[in-house]
Amino acid sequence: MPDEIRADDANQPRLLLLSGPNLQLLGTRQPEVYGHQTLADHVAVATEVAADRGYGLDHLQSNHEGALVDAIGDARGCYAGIVINPGALTHYAWSLHDAVAAFDGPVVELHLSNPAAREEWRHRSVIAPVAAGTIAGFGGAGYRIAVDAVVDLIEARR
Ligand code: DQA
Repeated sequence: MPDEIRADDANQPRLLLLSGPNLQLLGTRQPEVYGHQTLADHVAVATEVAADRGYGLDHLQSNHEGALVDAIGDARGCYAGIVINPGALTHYAWSLHDAVAAFDGPVVELHLSNPAAREEWRHRSVIAPVAAGTIAGFGGAGYRIAVDAVVDLIEARR
């Protein structure tokens, strides 16, 4: 697809990619678990995949639960879908659960690692019951898979 058609335009539907606590450290944070790619690398892939599907993408990383709750609340009516890697908030942040439940489009939960294969406290996700689905354990490839999945879900609802 030529670049001039892929460039963001005001009428393009948009996706919101959210990154929770400590994900700003990707690249140097436990690379044996989370890989060597930075968050910017993952955002670039997600943006590219979204553009290929005809969607714009905005990204927010925050270490603060409330900032993510605000972003999801503000996303209602503005964004067609959300991909969220909530980091450790996955395992206990009920306000994030409620924010996701109130969102009007599909939400895909994303993890680089496979929390189910890690410490017991990571096995529970309070987001999973209100997400459309979860992509976990595929490393950086998960960003590509998650963006494709959320677009597929948006288009299936039309
Ligand atoms: C994570 C998994 C969480 O358990 C952890 O707290 C993270 C990253 C992942 O992407 O694998 O911060 O969400």
